[in-house]
Amino acid sequence: MAPWHWIPDQVRDDNFRVRDDNFRVQDDNFRVQDDNFRVQDDNFRVRDDNQSRYFTLRYQSSMAAPSEFKPVIVGFLCNWCCYGGADLAGVSRFQYPPYLRVIRLMCSGRVDLEFIFRAFAKKADAVFIGGCHLGDCHYNPEGNYDALGNSFVAKRILENIGINPDRLRLEWVSAGEGIRFADIMHEFGAKIKALGPFGSSEGRDVAGLLDGLKAATDLVPYFKLVERERFRVSKRSEAGYKEFFARPDYEPLFKELVLDKLTMGRIMGALRADVTTAEDIAAKIGVQDSEVARHLLALSEQGIVRLNGKQAQVAVAA
Ligand code: FES
Repeated sequence: MAPWHWIPDQVRDDNFRVRDDNFRVQDDNFRVQDDNFRVQDDNFRVRDDNQSRYFTLRYQSSMAAPSEFKPVIVGFLCNWCCYGGADLAGVSRFQYPPYLRVIRLMCSGRVDLEFIFRAFAKKADAVFIGGCHLGDCHYNPEGNYDALGNSFVAKRILENIGINPDRLRLEWVSAGEGIRFADIMHEFGAKIKALGPFGSSEGRDVAGLLDGLKAATDLVPYFKLVERERFRVSKRSEAGYKEFFARPDYEPLFKELVLDKLTMGRIMGALRADVTTAEDIAAKIGVQDSEVARHLLALSEQGIVRLNGKQAQVAVAA
């Protein structure tokens, strides 16, 4: 039997009865139990004689309505600025969708790549990082530039795994920008709602995405080393960072140092899960066959993998 819906928001129990503290609708034949209320008409309107209010009961004759998708957005907010902005939005009663799960940090630079991957691995639909405006970070060196560099790197890694990079957003919000914080939450919430739950807009099975996130998380110490040694941006400005990450020599270097290592990690994960042919590995991790074959060859040359015709096996440790 399909449920009753009560407008405005009264409580409905599992037996599809609608009730509040004073009365309840008793059964499927639209009888009203309490004497203070009576069924008004065939459209199942119920009148509260004491309060002269009308409520409308809508009867759903088929299956229960699918519940509305409410995204889970993990928000890492810097204590000094964005958290203050979120607080101001609340105190000022600026409405915004209740999707954000706030984690307060002292600076946006504290948001490690691992935090982002772990949030998605826990099936967050999106991750939001909020810091002070560039030039306003409360620490030296300014952590929000690290957050900016990390977000460029994290988006590329997420994309490589098969996760839509739009699910990660970085914004600068000061403690006085309550309205701006609410506006961003409206906009980001609507965008993630349109994308749907984690994995749905990606067209990949969630298990495959989680495997990719695990491989990326395992490589975070290596990624941090590469970032520090090879992707250090000398110009501390937003334009400087954008320019650096758009340089023609950045992409091949990033592929060689980061993405190839990640693909190798994902191949090893597939091999450990007993997926042994190059075609099956390629299908599992969503990478081209030729790319997988290239990495398998490199891994076999390093003695990590034994190739046996079309089959690849993880080498037994000596
Ligand atoms: S203190 Fe806010 S971003 Fe560093």
